[in-house]
Amino acid sequence: MELITSGMRDYVRSPNMVKERFSIATAIGQAVAYIVAGTRNCPAVVVEDIDPSLEVIGPAPMFEQVIVNLLSNAVVALSKHPIANPKIVIQAQERPGGRIVIHVGDNGPGVPATFAEKIFEPFFTTNKLGVGTGLGLFMSNNWIKEVFGGALTLTPTAPDGGAMFEIVLPKATSDAPTVLVHR
Ligand SMILES: Nc1ncnc2c1ncn2[C@@H]1O[C@H](COP(=O)(O)OP(=O)(O)OP(=O)(O)O)[C@@H](O)[C@H]1O
Ligand SMILES: [Mg+2]
Repeated sequence: MELITSGMRDYVRSPNMVKERFSIATAIGQAVAYIVAGTRNCPAVVVEDIDPSLEVIGPAPMFEQVIVNLLSNAVVALSKHPIANPKIVIQAQERPGGRIVIHVGDNGPGVPATFAEKIFEPFFTTNKLGVGTGLGLFMSNNWIKEVFGGALTLTPTAPDGGAMFEIVLPKATSDAPTVLVHR
């Protein structure tokens, strides 16, 4: 586990990691486009109106990868649980205290209470051997915490009865420079 964590730190410090101020609406749009284009029989992905002025600071590709991970988990969960109207809903709002809260929810089977603590552990997966590595949520959680200074959690209840993940990020102030680190 320590090995993975230090490997991840190297990746985070890799020369291509540019910290920038970016719009989460744009980044989420790109992640959704990637999943929709690459998924056969993709469920409906609904992105509720996101204020384009909601910006955060960090490497945008890393944030997009986190959203891709959450979306692909939801796609897998929905594929195991055939229902009439499979859907994934993404919302983002500003909260008091300079925070942005993003929700990615689905109407799949949800995460059983016994697994709720385990899903962020490395190599925890309920997918067949060779399908999932069980690293998606572990890495996403670490990136959101270590790189963006935020938090990624599973919410205790999802309105559609499936699983809902919450990301809380510090909102970039409008006077923050556009590119902060370019190594
Ligand atoms: N939206 C969801 N609905 C139900 N279960 C979920 C959902 N998202 C994650 N899980 C559970 O959490 C586990 C861990 O997810 P994680 O993304 O870390 O690994 P994985 O998807 O199995 O493999 P990979 O490394 O390819 O991402 C999943 O195997 C699944 O059991
Ligand atoms: Mg995954």
